[in-house]
Amino acid sequence: MDITPSSPILLFDSGLGGLSVLAQLRKILPDAPVIYAADTAGMPYGEKTEAEVAARVAGLLGRMSERFAPRLACIACNTASTIALGMVRDVLHIPIVGTVPAIKPAAAMTKTGTIGLLGTAATIRQRYVDDLEARFAGDKILIRHAAPALVGAAETKLRGGRPDDAVFAEAVAGLREQAGGESIDTVVLACTHFPLLEPELRAAMGAGVTFIDGAKGIARRIASLTQGQDFAPEVAGRAVVTGDLDPALTVALEPYGIAEVARF
Ligand code: DGL
Repeated sequence: MDITPSSPILLFDSGLGGLSVLAQLRKILPDAPVIYAADTAGMPYGEKTEAEVAARVAGLLGRMSERFAPRLACIACNTASTIALGMVRDVLHIPIVGTVPAIKPAAAMTKTGTIGLLGTAATIRQRYVDDLEARFAGDKILIRHAAPALVGAAETKLRGGRPDDAVFAEAVAGLREQAGGESIDTVVLACTHFPLLEPELRAAMGAGVTFIDGAKGIARRIASLTQGQDFAPEVAGRAVVTGDLDPALTVALEPYGIAEVARF
């Protein structure tokens, strides 16, 4: 495939969580043409089976690659990456950047040796996460908690609504109330929706806890894989969604430089 200056970078998530990655990418590659793709008809991925997530992600990314001819695709979703990254890499012949729970940097940062991990139900049960824990945090304690309500809370916040404070208290209790949870000093936000709620989670967790996510690392990886390539500066970013086009979606995407939203 020939890369032209207008070949886009495709950023894919189930919903608006991938905007936490787009925000970091814009800091490094402000001119890169980006198509933000959200499988809003399939959200939440975290409550689906592995087979359902794999089929949706591989099918949609295949069709989107044919339609948009991206120079690179980023799966800006931990659930989709931990389940389907290998499969997508096997079928698409462009660089694919995945989103990996930031267990390695968290293990390097923790002082108490106890790390919390918040993700979707599907993410926290993946072998992928077991392998990261064994490789990078074998001498630490990793406490995992599925916090699916945070996905909806992030969607509400981005659409200009006010999420219920109880969901933050519940997420924190889910970590703190497990054995050893009082020692957590570092929390991995292993869902791209969750960094969008960092201020709320920080307030609920209390002082002395560091939050870490993969967005900056992903943006750096995309920049390195596209180094030396030309970008035709975009007039406005584009988004495609699989679900309904509601006006609140446009409002949520606008601050990220996306003015055009279409149905895929
Ligand atoms: N943003 C997705 C992630 O990083 C999950 C949201 C969902 O459950 O669809 O895992």
